[in-house]
Amino acid sequence: MSHAKKAAGHRAAEFVEDGMTLGLGTGSTVFFVLEALADRVQGGLQIRGVPTSLDTQRVAGEFGIPLVTLDEALELDLTIDGADEIDPAFHMIKGGGGALLREKIVARASKRVVIVADSGKVVERLGLKFLLPIEVVPFARQVVTRELEGLGATPVMRIAGKDEPYLTDNGNQILDTRFKNGIEDPPALERTLAAIPGIVESGIFVDLAHVLVVGSENGEAEVRER
Ligand code: 5RP
Repeated sequence: MSHAKKAAGHRAAEFVEDGMTLGLGTGSTVFFVLEALADRVQGGLQIRGVPTSLDTQRVAGEFGIPLVTLDEALELDLTIDGADEIDPAFHMIKGGGGALLREKIVARASKRVVIVADSGKVVERLGLKFLLPIEVVPFARQVVTRELEGLGATPVMRIAGKDEPYLTDNGNQILDTRFKNGIEDPPALERTLAAIPGIVESGIFVDLAHVLVVGSENGEAEVRER
């Protein structure tokens, strides 16, 4: 799997040009983007990045990639991020790493978004294999759970360590949610979830990805445009 991730990550880093302000996604595939960028920064490439998680902030910092806040950058030339699933319309499930809220904010602030993934994440329908992460305010977790059950879904609180609720970088919790027949209409479900008080953000990403870089275990990467 890591050959595929590395192939995708290194190929995607080629989209980065001198002077760009970047959104830096989160996850094990993005790690290889950061690795490739670190080499180029050492060679004189001038970039600055807005990290989408504390984890990426730490790794990018260790790699010597200059970082700024989203407030400082405001508009981003390009974001490179991973995905948990991506469908033929380039709608995605994200949030396996818990960073969905900042990832969506950063993607929305970007002129262009390149997604890196291994071929196992390319699906015909979202949500048949991967549960949909939904970030909720802790105060509202139980009422949101009931609302989701009312939609026919099965939410399970994400756990960290010894049965403690997993907490996002924003201090919220995550409900990993199963939809029995997958997600039939991603834009409609995203709107439905956004209307439920207590849901901060869902991991459905609609119309945000422009380019998909799919890595294979043989070390090749294929670039697909939306
Ligand atoms: C984090 C994400 C990640 O981009 C997604 O989970 C993919 O991660 P990986 O590249 O490790 O498979 O959405 O919130």
